[in-house]
Amino acid sequence: MALEVIVLAAGAGTRMRSRLPKVLHPLGGRPLLAHVLDAAAALAPSAIHVVVGEQGDEIRAAFAGRENVSWVLQRPALGTGHAVAQALPAVAEDATVLVLIGDAPLIATATLAAAARAGQDGVVIVTAELPDPAGFGRILREGGEIVGIVEAADATAAERTIHEANAGTLAAPKRMLANLIEALAPANAQAELYLTDVVGLAVGQGQRVAGIAAAVPEEILGVNDRAQLARLERRYQRRQADRLMAAGVTVMDPARLDVRGTVAAGEDCVIDVGVLLEGSVTLGRGVSIGAGCVIRDADLGDGVDVLPMSCIDGAVVAAGCRIGPFARLRPGTQLAADVHIGNFVETKQAALGAGAKANHLAYLGDASVGAGSNIGAGAVTCNYDGEAKHRTEIGRRAFVGTNATLVAPLAIGDDAYVGAGSTITGDVPAEELAIGRGRQRNIKGWTPPVRRGAGSSGANAPKRKAEQ
Ligand code: UD1
Ligand code: MG
Repeated sequence: MALEVIVLAAGAGTRMRSRLPKVLHPLGGRPLLAHVLDAAAALAPSAIHVVVGEQGDEIRAAFAGRENVSWVLQRPALGTGHAVAQALPAVAEDATVLVLIGDAPLIATATLAAAARAGQDGVVIVTAELPDPAGFGRILREGGEIVGIVEAADATAAERTIHEANAGTLAAPKRMLANLIEALAPANAQAELYLTDVVGLAVGQGQRVAGIAAAVPEEILGVNDRAQLARLERRYQRRQADRLMAAGVTVMDPARLDVRGTVAAGEDCVIDVGVLLEGSVTLGRGVSIGAGCVIRDADLGDGVDVLPMSCIDGAVVAAGCRIGPFARLRPGTQLAADVHIGNFVETKQAALGAGAKANHLAYLGDASVGAGSNIGAGAVTCNYDGEAKHRTEIGRRAFVGTNATLVAPLAIGDDAYVGAGSTITGDVPAEELAIGRGRQRNIKGWTPPVRRGAGSSGANAPKRKAEQ
């Protein structure tokens, strides 16, 4: 039987106090709804219908280009049951329907698969025992059988002591669900059509409602306000850390690592505290990442050592490189094996050959640096003339002295030298030394300004050689 998924995302999200639709708030760097859609898509359903409301256009735009999703408008939002009613006409008559809520991003595909399977034969809900089920609908049972769900807002004091909570996930054959939804009435504290009332109605008609326990209770946690979002973020991040540790990574403190994207890591990597990994990050074997680093969309080869407080973005770093501390690799940086990039060095669209070094305070933009070359402290490629970018090509084993100013476009040959403090505006041939700076002059008998003034006997006069 075909499976179709309905995701509810039309609620006002009032408790977030935000202009951003609730389901677009990020968890692990991606919208809440993206997590739910991914979990649903893994079941390979024949369709996913997402119900959106007032802010539907914004939500749609955030998922433009996503395949196999159709959008349903619910306006006004009159409750979760009403939301499902808006989507059902688009669902095939003989389909099994799986309803998900858009604000519970940790729900696992395995749990959904179990619900979808059982939902072929009747109404199924997903539940979990929570230590603190405040705000959740509670599961009512008689003789062990599910007989209904009572919403937190409608629950009696006794019902609020129940710890078994409703995940918000429900599955049923489409025809059965459509009939039950037609019978819903807004006779409750919120004057809404509650999807959860479907359970009591089905039981009233003599049907059995099955409960599927979430594999891990935390799967069902939802986001209704920012405090819950923050708590879920920590749980999500803990899962990311656990995954990396299972892959053989030492995570110095799993509570102080954040992953906003996907990370593939080889064995024996070490990640120190306060590290943020974003986008698509690949770490080879034995990569070490120091405290406070931010690494985004980067590929780091075996044994790369990233020292603390470095930022790497859009870079490919080959085996054995040493980066930082306080280095910044920007997009288009490509480092061959064993390159050293030291403190306060910035690179952008720069390729450095094997063993090249820029150990302090340099800017290499739109540049290539040959293998074995050394870039001195304070050397800068002047790549921008205010209008266009120009390249600096430096050969192999070249030596660029301290504070050299390399005005691009420029080529510096193999084994060439550039004297410290030079401003280089023309190409330097291989094996030649270029010096482009004023010559030093020493001026004899020069009198410092302070001695020309009030004289050297004043109380404030600095101690000079003559007085010592
Ligand atoms: C809902 C469930 C509750 C469950 C909890 C789990 C109902 C009545 N209650 O409560 O049993 O324990 O989730 O987190 O179903 N939505 C619409 N249209 C609407 C109203 C809501 O699309 O008219 C969407 C929201 O955008 C949200 C989801 O449905 O994604 C749940 O709505 P929310 O208001 O958060 O319900 P809860 O009070 O959390
Ligand atoms: Mg909710």
